[in-house]
Amino acid sequence: MLKKKDKYIVAVVGATGAVGKEMVTVLEERNFPVEKLRLFASERSEGKIINFHQRGVTVEILTEKVFDGIDIALFSAGGDRSLQYAPIAAKAGCVVIDNSSAWRMDPATPLVVPEVNPQDLKWHKGIIANPNCSTIQMVVALKPIHDAAKIKRVVVTTFQSVSGTGSKAMDELFHQTADILNFRDVKPVVYPHQIAFNCLPQIDKFMDDGYTKEEIKMVNETKKIMNDDSIRVTATTVRVPVFRAHSESINIETEKKITANEVRALLSKAPGIIVYDAPEKGVYPLPVFAAGKDEVYVGRIREDHTIDNGINMWIAADNLRKGAALNAVQIAE
Ligand SMILES: NC(=O)c1ccc[n+]([C@@H]2O[C@H](COP(=O)([O-])OP(=O)(O)OC[C@H]3O[C@@H](n4cnc5c(N)ncnc54)[C@H](OP(=O)(O)O)[C@@H]3O)[C@@H](O)[C@H]2O)c1
Repeated sequence: MLKKKDKYIVAVVGATGAVGKEMVTVLEERNFPVEKLRLFASERSEGKIINFHQRGVTVEILTEKVFDGIDIALFSAGGDRSLQYAPIAAKAGCVVIDNSSAWRMDPATPLVVPEVNPQDLKWHKGIIANPNCSTIQMVVALKPIHDAAKIKRVVVTTFQSVSGTGSKAMDELFHQTADILNFRDVKPVVYPHQIAFNCLPQIDKFMDDGYTKEEIKMVNETKKIMNDDSIRVTATTVRVPVFRAHSESINIETEKKITANEVRALLSKAPGIIVYDAPEKGVYPLPVFAAGKDEVYVGRIREDHTIDNGINMWIAADNLRKGAALNAVQIAE
């Protein structure tokens, strides 16, 4: 267990990636008490300089020996690195907050969204998992409704930005868009099909039952974070040609009746949420607006007239911030 200090030695593992860079920005913006920042990536990035509080920090190569003396390590270098290095870091006395999916469903590792299940931080044994980006923003919006009316079932369809795949995917959308507008052929590399001007109903690999791994993550992680195995979730996850911020269409069935106005009132008071819901004035959550912001934006709140106790809503949040870096730094705080 980490001792309380005035300032901490903090590491970002995967510091040159889409999430890692955002972690450095969020640590700086929130004035996290950092005594020293250490940045790690692969040998490809050795010696690169990343700015933190107007000082250049040099990127070092990640090895098994680097964790001595580090208090908190924010990992975002892919699942294989987390599987290999997180236990080594934890053994060296460091608290690991891991962004990959490697430890999320491990029964000995808490999976935490601070607005939803902060109590689970108490039982960590050195590794704390950060949930999947699409799950985080959904559970922030579900929790107040679950507490008030008990959610029985959720049907969610996601519209996920390319930054959720990482920096190479952002480059792919940029270059494909330019190629198409200049009448050049498109060569998909990161995604199985063209992503520019297209929607791909596939995120991650397909499993035997026809669902993708991303869809299964949303089902299992929601139950673990909400500490409730009875919530039934079914998901369709879609990659869309948006650079930053994921949107989701969510249909909720509750045990107790709750009206759209009651949901609006509940969510307006809930932490981490901004209700953005005046459709007659064109006000509803948009990914271009949610990008760069910390909150989960919720709008299009309305009753589902096809069932007794149903609510529909549309949410948008920045996948690199609340979906990854910000949630990790909030856990550290
Ligand atoms: N993007 C999101 O919205 C999001 C949300 C939640 C969770 N995550 C998870 O966060 C992780 C990183 O995602 P990302 O989107 O930031 O990916 P990314 O942009 O591709 O960045 C990957 C990072 O990992 C480093 N890395 C790769 N191989 C390494 C190795 N052998 N040793 C040390 N460092 C290595 C890279 O360093 P180099 O620059 O040296 O290659 C880079 O810093 C993934 O596990 C992902 O599932 C992402």
